[in-house]
Amino acid sequence: LQERHNYRPKVHFTPLSMWTNDPNGMVYADGMYHLFYQHNTEEARWGDIHWGHAISADLLHWQHLPVAICPDELGMIFSGSCVFDALNTSGFGTAERPPMVAIYTNHDPDTKKEVQSIAYSTDYLHFIKYENNPVLEDSNIKDFRDPKAFWNPVRNSWSLVIAAGDRVNFYSSKNLKEWEQTGEFIAGENGLKGICECPDCFPVQTGEGTKWVLIISMIIGDETKGNVEHKTQYFIGTFDGDKFIDTEKEKEPLWLNYGTDYYAAVTFQNAESNILVGWADNWAYANETPTGKYRGQMSLAAKADLKKTSAGYRIALSPMGLEKLMAGSLPVEKESNLEWESFGLTVTGKGSGKINLHNGCGEKLTIEVSGDEIIIDRTNADEKDFSARYAMFNKVSVKRYQKGDYRLEMIFDVSLLELFAEEGLIPAAVSVYPKEPYNHLLLEGDMEAVIYPVK
Ligand code: FRU
Repeated sequence: LQERHNYRPKVHFTPLSMWTNDPNGMVYADGMYHLFYQHNTEEARWGDIHWGHAISADLLHWQHLPVAICPDELGMIFSGSCVFDALNTSGFGTAERPPMVAIYTNHDPDTKKEVQSIAYSTDYLHFIKYENNPVLEDSNIKDFRDPKAFWNPVRNSWSLVIAAGDRVNFYSSKNLKEWEQTGEFIAGENGLKGICECPDCFPVQTGEGTKWVLIISMIIGDETKGNVEHKTQYFIGTFDGDKFIDTEKEKEPLWLNYGTDYYAAVTFQNAESNILVGWADNWAYANETPTGKYRGQMSLAAKADLKKTSAGYRIALSPMGLEKLMAGSLPVEKESNLEWESFGLTVTGKGSGKINLHNGCGEKLTIEVSGDEIIIDRTNADEKDFSARYAMFNKVSVKRYQKGDYRLEMIFDVSLLELFAEEGLIPAAVSVYPKEPYNHLLLEGDMEAVIYPVK
């Protein structure tokens, strides 16, 4: 396969060069959204992991900043979070200039030991590591990583949710330096079992008061049998100040996103609402994607709400900044040429329908509403030989919540489709690497659509 070097999406974050996986330390401060990210600075594949750094005012366009945190004698800088310490509880700043405090996992590449450390910044650009790192360790726990700090309104303190093998643990602290365990949550009692990664726990306002959501990214399956999948699950319940309690006890696991390419999503701290960003990639083939000098991309930032459905409360995702993008919407014919490599498409229809994106090489990506399902099919969308495992994820099919009329919001951004169907209850991120840009659109079925450029 010839590498096409222009797969880079326009409004999805990608590193300037080299590698990224999980979004980290997302925090809002001084009018800017800060995104840190798992970053190998030497190679466009997973390796010696640092924290890269970028900022954005609109969550669509990002400015690259120097690497924020580099590996040290405790190891690489694995995933974690940042808080805007407005009350200077840590003492790392002043009341006038509150510090931004990062808490992350140090992963020792030789021993695989994982401990939690902190670093702080008062210019929100340069980070200083705390002299007494690590601040949290437990030699009894394997796979102890990805601390997510959040404000605990019950204890009036900081809390931490962190992956601890097959469960997540909760800790609390007054100053972000000394942590005491307050509880745990075992995924698997009412959900799928697996190794937990990148948890997050946050309150969501609903018509029936505040509920709490616990998100856990999970390695499901057995590595030795080659059937491993990485998926992001969530639970709905309450937070009693010590731990999360699953009150809904769903029989089936709830998925945050149905696409092939979405993992390790967490929220921004200190933002006006619960804004999620995930890594829009799949560990099964992420190290092999044909993107050239960079690898890895983030999902769009999306607001997470809880909506009541006939099945109970469910997370609905709405992309941030969509109104701004949609300003230039134009109606589109059933068959038309595509002028842009990145565009948004809003489709409303009845019954069944199919949206086809084609190019001159005979490649085609389809999005179909058929009866009670939504299907995204990339079987013939691109060449698959860059990775043996890419073709194992050809199709996404999701059961709809309703029948009949449908509305699909789609952002297609060069090499990544993000679909938000049924008012965000069915989000799906799917990557594609066509030989040439899709330049033709065909709409089949009783539907109407508007299109707008994305730039
Ligand atoms: C999730 C993850 C995290 C870890 C990081 C390492 O994708 O495995 O658990 O901190 O990636 O890069």
